[in-house]
Amino acid sequence: MALPAGFLDELRARTPISAVIGRRVKLARSGRQWKGCCPFHGEKTPSFYVYDDHFHCFGCGVHGDAVSFVMQSQGASFPEAVQQLAAEAGMEVPKASPQAAAAERRRLDLHGVLEAACQAYRRRLYLPEGARALSYLRNRGLTEDTIAAFGLGWSGEGRGALAAELAREEVPPEMLIEAGLMRPAEEGRPAYDLFFNRVMFPIRDRQARAISFGGRILGDGQPKYVNGPETALFSKRRTLFAIERAREGARGGGTVAVVEGYVDVIALHQAGFKAAVAPLGTALTEEHLDVLWRLSPVPVLCFDGDAAGARAAVRSVELALPHLTPERGLKLATLPPGEDPDSLVRRQGPAGFQAILDAARPLGDALFDLMHEGVNDSSPESRAAFRTRLIEAAGRIGDKSLGYEYRSMLLDRFKERRPRPMMGKRDGSGPRRMGQPAPPRPFTQARPTPTPATATAERARHLVAILLRHPGLLHDVEEAFGTVMLSEALDRLRSAILMWGSSAETLDSAALMTHLHATGLAADAAQALSAVPVPLAACASPDAMPAEAEAGWWHFFGLMNPGRLEQEVANAMVDFQRLADTTTERRLVALREALNALRTGEMESETEA
Ligand code: UTP
Ligand code: MN
Repeated sequence: MALPAGFLDELRARTPISAVIGRRVKLARSGRQWKGCCPFHGEKTPSFYVYDDHFHCFGCGVHGDAVSFVMQSQGASFPEAVQQLAAEAGMEVPKASPQAAAAERRRLDLHGVLEAACQAYRRRLYLPEGARALSYLRNRGLTEDTIAAFGLGWSGEGRGALAAELAREEVPPEMLIEAGLMRPAEEGRPAYDLFFNRVMFPIRDRQARAISFGGRILGDGQPKYVNGPETALFSKRRTLFAIERAREGARGGGTVAVVEGYVDVIALHQAGFKAAVAPLGTALTEEHLDVLWRLSPVPVLCFDGDAAGARAAVRSVELALPHLTPERGLKLATLPPGEDPDSLVRRQGPAGFQAILDAARPLGDALFDLMHEGVNDSSPESRAAFRTRLIEAAGRIGDKSLGYEYRSMLLDRFKERRPRPMMGKRDGSGPRRMGQPAPPRPFTQARPTPTPATATAERARHLVAILLRHPGLLHDVEEAFGTVMLSEALDRLRSAILMWGSSAETLDSAALMTHLHATGLAADAAQALSAVPVPLAACASPDAMPAEAEAGWWHFFGLMNPGRLEQEVANAMVDFQRLADTTTERRLVALREALNALRTGEMESETEA
């Protein structure tokens, strides 16, 4: 089965192997791996390990990747296994064709061409024509071992050198074009060498096969670096320079660090940071993050200490948020202004860069600071907008329970930055101090007339109260629930409820209440369920039918956030067309009911909902 270049790589990258195996084998975490009883030989004590991209049994020796697991465990053929996993990953398997088979052969040949180019460039570095390049590299502090280990080379002086040399090895120009070493001919201009008069840096894939090159000009001049074009073998979006070495380095306990340039990576490896990598003249992509997370649960991204570095940091964080999980995090490090890792280790030795890594901040802290940049802490409007942005950022984290942890952490830091309260006059007309109880209400006002603020507070309280009584709704409403603005106490309850909901065996009200007691939130829960200031609506009663409770929940949600309710109805409709199950149907009916009621305004008397 001839598949186009990169298809299997992408399939593997998109297939969580632990989930595939977890369907057949009960797996438990063991450090960064998973472990369980081997499905291929009878055993009682687990010796079957699942890593980021492969499995291995220390009992019987079987090993392989997701595709071979499906083949071995289901007796599937290779095409069947690929077909099945591709369907699960939402990918279409390209049709096998003679053209595809030919393309695959060419791809294998291309590796050979690039390897031959590597050898040619290396050889030239030590010829008289390469003397200037070699001394340039030595002057940059690179040792003979380093130059050899990274396979650095010299392109040759003028255009045509490589083509002429490889023609003797019967490599035709068309292959040099496909390998990204020559530019194709255009009208009136013959094909020409991409790299000449440059120091050559081979770029390799995970398996250390050459896939392209970068070339640096000697001294000053533009462009400083030329990188090979996209080819069947080389995709900038996916490739990190020195990945083949960083895999080893990370396995040996090295910190996976992402820096900016070729020479930075090489200088860091020479200084002992064996798991340093760099993108190739592009910003970090999601594909890069995937590659990094296969090496380490918490890679460190290093950014320049200037404004451009801060912008790049923001972009990377934005990119990472949806993909974060408890096993996929990030740290951010900032270089001193005007330094890059290469200059830093040259001036200060390994300790200089180690200090930068040690000072790397967890993503959450860095996120807060990056977002806080330029926020005026003393204006209520800008504080409110900032708070909303923090909540939104946490909401973008795909992993819900992690999202709630981030959310409460960000809000805690937000509260720490509360501006000092203005000192009120002693007569009580000034603002209350934090933690001071509200003055008692005169009791003629036992039922406060609802103001917009108290109406909103009551709606929010209902959203929480209904879920305390009917946690079975959690799965249907949790996303929407996460978007609502809540008071501190309700927010605490929400975090606790969602956390509990993500791991509870059954979503049962009594169990939830027991959990809240155990976590010290009993008083908050009682307050949410209290008949004061107004009795709760019938839909929040323990006796309400699930459908009634759900319609009530969406009703209060819609009152707080009408635009979002319409969106929820649309989502539920799409889900129902796809799933056609009773749970989705119940959600859809409840949502429609709530939306209709909202449109006709009939439910404005809220306590009757
Ligand atoms: P920098 O301009 O920061 O240079 O480019 P550097 O890495 O410090 O280079 P040296 O130390 O002067 O040799 C950072 C990275 O951006 C890409 C390269 O990957 C480079 O390593 N780049 C830079 C290009 O692709 N093209 C360029 O013209 C310049
Ligand atoms: Mn540099």
